[in-house]
Amino acid sequence: MSLDHPAKPPVAPNDLRAFWMPFTANRQFKQNPRMLVAAQDMHYTTADGRQVLDGTAGLWCCNAGHCRPKIVEAIQRSAAELDYAPAFQMGHPMAFELANRLVEMAPDGFNHVFFTNSGSESVDTALKIALAYHRARGDGARTRLIGREKGYHGVGFGGISVGGLVNNRRVFGTLLNGTDHLPHTYLPEANRWSKGQPEHGANLADELERMVALHGADTIAAVIVEPVAGSAGVILPPKGYLEKLRAITKKYGILLIFDEVITGFGRLGAPFAADYFGVMPDLMTTAKGLTSGTVPMGAVFATSEVHDTFMTGPEHMIELFHGYTYSGSPIACAAGLATQELYKEEGLFARAAEIAPYWEEALHSLKGTRHVIDIRNMGLIGAIELEPIPGEPTKRAFSAFLKAYEKGILVRTTGDIIAMSPPLIIEKAHVDQLIGTIRDVLEALD
Ligand SMILES: Cc1ncc(COP(=O)(O)O)c(C=O)c1O
Repeated sequence: MSLDHPAKPPVAPNDLRAFWMPFTANRQFKQNPRMLVAAQDMHYTTADGRQVLDGTAGLWCCNAGHCRPKIVEAIQRSAAELDYAPAFQMGHPMAFELANRLVEMAPDGFNHVFFTNSGSESVDTALKIALAYHRARGDGARTRLIGREKGYHGVGFGGISVGGLVNNRRVFGTLLNGTDHLPHTYLPEANRWSKGQPEHGANLADELERMVALHGADTIAAVIVEPVAGSAGVILPPKGYLEKLRAITKKYGILLIFDEVITGFGRLGAPFAADYFGVMPDLMTTAKGLTSGTVPMGAVFATSEVHDTFMTGPEHMIELFHGYTYSGSPIACAAGLATQELYKEEGLFARAAEIAPYWEEALHSLKGTRHVIDIRNMGLIGAIELEPIPGEPTKRAFSAFLKAYEKGILVRTTGDIIAMSPPLIIEKAHVDQLIGTIRDVLEALD
């Protein structure tokens, strides 16, 4: 057998062809790349040496800001000390330490965490725990999983099955059996220009009663929702909606899962959305802000009631046949521990709550700006919805994103909505720069 391999195509250092980029218009990007080469605190540095103000905390994840020395040093130390330890049937101290730290800050009753590597994995883990929980209780007919229209729960098969964004679903086959979807709560006519929770739509939670009537409560394992939906363009829960969902799920013994991948770790000015809204689910999925985006890591928070249900049977037996090679890997745990310490030392969740009213006023000052048809906000989240160009949906917002980037700010768009979620270290002057730049961009845009 020849050891000769077929010649690879030549790859120049700046050849962009090999990397198939995720959720990206690859051909458009590669013609005119937007390349980031460094970051510090609130700013990215671009390949051409410009400073760009980060209006999105990377992808809703760098909550502590960029390249914070405490986190950087912890990662460096861990990489030199314990690069990896097997995750199954073996342990290392930092994973236990981080789990303890996380349950201390979680709402009462959440006494256990299961580590993953991403939000998608956290979602699939939580769905599997929900199914296995009912089975462990002898209630194994509960196999249905209910999500919500316009929901985003990552890109695993579980996540896209309960998710409700058509582009993420339609070309991927039949998905999981036995899912259903609550109606979304995006009610632009009724709730336009909402500051915080919108007034209208709590009754949409009653649709769960209809599903119970249709399927039978004893076939439903769990309901999963984002307390605040991010990827669909920032959809806020109407007043009373989450409370109703909690009441109905409790009434029928259905687990409630909050997908807190974007709301966890201070985004709303509280540790979790569960704290912010005062509504306690049975499971919470997290990732992103757990390590401030530095090392991929996620965690599923479980109540004692859920966790303890598994802790039966012979003690030498594995209780849950699930886990990842990198569940609680040392470098991720080091990053997580340093991140949580930094949040605490700098009081960043309280800081987010403090600056949120300024953020709200600044955002809503864009009412009346060209193309703007709605503005919504909560905590350090903001959405500016634009009138779509007739026949060319998404194009106007994408053009705004490109112009904004040229003018030194990073925002994100979904559909015709500009979404922002800055690091929690944002200062008022940064808010002014973000909003001022968006105003200039929109006024000049076709
Ligand atoms: C609510 C929610 N769930 C899950 C995910 C998926 O996370 P990841 O991209 O880390 O898999 C995201 C990502 O944006 C999210 O917003």
